[in-house]
Amino acid sequence: MKIILILVLVLIVSIDALNNQFLHISDVHYSSAMNSLLYNSSVMCIGPQFTKEFDHHEHEMLVEDLERLNLPTSGLYGRYGCDTNQLLLEELISEMLNVNSNPDFIIYTGDGAGHGLPNGPWSESQSTLAKSLYQAYPNTQFIPTIGNNDVFPDYNSQCNDSNLQFLYETWAQWIPNNQVSSFLYRGSFIVQPIPGLTIISLNTILYSVKNKNTFANPQDPCGQFAWLEQQLITAKQAGNHVYIMGHIFPGLDPFYLQGTWKSQYQTSFFNITSDYQTTITAGFFGHIHRDEIRSIQYNDESLSNNNYFPMFIGSSITPVYFNNPTFKQFKYDSLSKNITDITAYFSDVYISNLKGQMNWTKEYDFVDTYGIDNQYGIGGDELNSLMQKMITVNSIFNNYDNYRSGSYLSDSPSMTCLINAATIDELNACTYTAANVA
Ligand SMILES: *[C@@H]1O[C@H](CO)[C@@H](O)[C@H](O)[C@H]1NC(C)=O
Ligand SMILES: *[C@@H]1O[C@H](CO)[C@@H](O)[C@H](O)[C@H]1NC(C)=O
Ligand SMILES: *[C@@H]1O[C@H](CO)[C@@H](O)[C@H](O)[C@H]1NC(C)=O
Ligand SMILES: *[C@@H]1O[C@H](CO)[C@@H](O)[C@H](O)[C@H]1NC(C)=O
Ligand SMILES: *[C@@H]1O[C@H](CO)[C@@H](O)[C@H](O)[C@H]1NC(C)=O
Repeated sequence: MKIILILVLVLIVSIDALNNQFLHISDVHYSSAMNSLLYNSSVMCIGPQFTKEFDHHEHEMLVEDLERLNLPTSGLYGRYGCDTNQLLLEELISEMLNVNSNPDFIIYTGDGAGHGLPNGPWSESQSTLAKSLYQAYPNTQFIPTIGNNDVFPDYNSQCNDSNLQFLYETWAQWIPNNQVSSFLYRGSFIVQPIPGLTIISLNTILYSVKNKNTFANPQDPCGQFAWLEQQLITAKQAGNHVYIMGHIFPGLDPFYLQGTWKSQYQTSFFNITSDYQTTITAGFFGHIHRDEIRSIQYNDESLSNNNYFPMFIGSSITPVYFNNPTFKQFKYDSLSKNITDITAYFSDVYISNLKGQMNWTKEYDFVDTYGIDNQYGIGGDELNSLMQKMITVNSIFNNYDNYRSGSYLSDSPSMTCLINAATIDELNACTYTAANVA
C-alpha cells in the first residue's frame, strides 16, 4: 500500500514537473582562444598566432552599427565580429538557468566551437562547452545536433569517421544508448524526451553545398534518408508527434540568397517528409546567426490541410555576424506538441560592456508581437499568414528585421519572400508578386 502511494506520488510529481516549455540555443561558437580585451574584430579577437583562415564571408557583407563602433568600450563580454568568450558563455548559462532551470528539454542546433581555430583549441573549446552545459543541466534531456564547425575541418562530415567518434566522446551523456551506432555511423539519432514526442536530430552537414566529400551512396549519404523515413514510420505508427532538428535548414540563406543544401538532397528531404506532414509538427535549425522563420510547402498538397513545414531558426549566441546573443524559450501544447508561443531573450553586447554587466532582457513574445492566432498552435499556415502580413504591413516586417539580429541593427533588404521560398525560382516569383502588392 505504502509503495503504491509512493508510486502514485512520484507519478503526480513527474507529470507536474513538465512545464510544456523548452529552450532552444544555437551557434554558441565558444572559443577558448578568444581575448577580446587584447584584440579586436580585425583578427576576430583570437590574435595573430592563430590561423586567420575564415571560411565564412557573411560578416564582410554586414555593416557594423557606426554609433556603437565609434564609442569605445572594453571587450569584457565579447565584441561584434568576434566569437563567444568565456565570460559570455558563463553569462549565457546563468541566464538560461534564470529563465528556466528545469525545462522539459533543451534543443541545441549546433556549432559549438569558434571559427578559425586549429585542432587543439577547437577540440578544447568543444569539450569545455559540452561540460559547462552538462554541469548546468545535469538532469535535463539536452539534444545536440552537428554543425559545420562541430567537425574538423569545417564542413568535413563523412560516414563513420573520426569526427563522429570525437563528437560521441564529447556528447556521450546526451546520446541514448540505443542510438550510439546510428550516431557513430551518420551523426543522427532520436530521443523521446516526453511522452508522445520524437525528436529527430539530423546530420545536415552531409547535405551542405560546402561539403566536398564524395559518398559511397551519393543518393543517400550514410543512408540517412532511409533512416529518417524509418524513424517517421515508427513515430507515426506509435501516434507520436515529431520535431526535426538540424544545423543547416533546407531552403535559402539570407546572405547570398542561395540554397544551403545540394538541391537533390533538398528534393529528397521534402519527398520523404511530405508523406508524414501530419506527424511532423515543427523543425528547429540554426547556422545563419539570424532569428528567422521558414514555412516551406510540402510536395504533395493533397495529403492533408497541413501543407507547410514550419521551421524555427535560432539566432546565435556568438556576436560574430554583428548581432546580439539571443536564445529562445518555446511553449507547446501538451497533447498535439504544437508550438503555442516563443519568447526571445537577448543582451546588447555594447551596453553590457559599457555597464560591466550583462543586460539580458526579454526581446519579444512571438504571438503578441505579430498578432498570431495561435488557437491551433503556430504551424506552417500561421507562419505563412505572418509572411503575407509582413509583405503588406511595413511595421510588422520592421519588427521581424530588427529581431533577426537580436536587436542589433536591421540589416536586410526585403526578406519576406525567403520565408516560404525553397528555391531561387520560387524566391524570384514571390519577390515579383510582392513588389506588385506593396
Ligand atoms: C583593431 O586594433 C588594431 C590594433 O590595435 C587597430 O589598428 C585597428 O584600427 C582596430 N580595428 C578595428 C576595426 O577596430
Ligand atoms: C566503421 O569504420 C570502422 C573502422 O574503419 C570499421 O571497422 C567498421 O566496419 C565501420 N562500420 C560501418 C558500419 O561501416
Ligand atoms: C520521391 O519518392 C517516390 C516514392 O515515394 C519516388 O518514386 C521518387 O523517385 C522520389 N523522387 C525523388 C526526386 O526523390
Ligand atoms: C537593458 O536593455 C534594455 C533593452 O534593450 C534597455 O531598455 C535598457 O535600457 C538596458 N539597460 C541599460 C542599463 O542600459
Ligand atoms: C496542431 O497543428 C495542426 C497543424 O497546424 C492543426 O491541424 C491541429 O489542429 C493543431 N492541433 C491543436 C490541438 O491545436
